[in-house]
Amino acid sequence: MHPKFERTLVIIKPDGVQRSLIGEIIGRFEKLGLKMVAAKMCVPTAEHVEKHYTLDPEWRRITGEKRVKAAKEKGEKLATEDPFEITAKILEVLIKYMTSGPVVAMVWQGAHATELVRKIVGGTEPRSSDVGTIRGDYVLDSYVMADTDSRAIRNLVHASGTAKESEAEIKHWFKDDEVLDYKLVQESILYDVNLDGIFE
Ligand code: CDP
Ligand code: MG
Repeated sequence: MHPKFERTLVIIKPDGVQRSLIGEIIGRFEKLGLKMVAAKMCVPTAEHVEKHYTLDPEWRRITGEKRVKAAKEKGEKLATEDPFEITAKILEVLIKYMTSGPVVAMVWQGAHATELVRKIVGGTEPRSSDVGTIRGDYVLDSYVMADTDSRAIRNLVHASGTAKESEAEIKHWFKDDEVLDYKLVQESILYDVNLDGIFE
């Protein structure tokens, strides 16, 4: 399959919608050259959110370990270093966060879609995510604040982490016929072998 057919899932989380950042976030992906092939606004159920985050059986371990590593780097003391205990708590607050209001779920298509969307979205914690990324530029949350207030990190967007995750997550949020196959005029400039047909 040509790389231009790669697809990935993006969700503008409830805080992204409430901050009126829908247009800004969509604009980032559009400007890169990606194509939106599915979109819907909805309030997800707790079951749907839990399933979404646990589609990858490794998510609990990886996410717990990531939190321990971030704490070590900051010299921060955690109540437990057991990744599964940590993730059980994260999942609880995450469900509360993700079901607190409307979200916008989308599928974006284009070369290296998963990798490039993650690059634009930035790291999980807005405090330490890079300048120029959505999470780095538009919000200021941190692990410390989220933990102090026993809530999830508000980081505006979800983006699939790997090509495999993208595939599973797209299936979880959209029926096959809700994801559209169509051409964008600009794709001939992005992908065609020859840049012809420009002059009159
Ligand atoms: O979203 P991303 O893939 O960057 O991070 P994740 O590790 O898959 O975690 C999913 C979501 O859970 C994050 O985006 C945060 O909103 C939330 N989370 C949290 O509140 N506290 C953590 N220690 C880790 C994640
Ligand atoms: Mg993730």
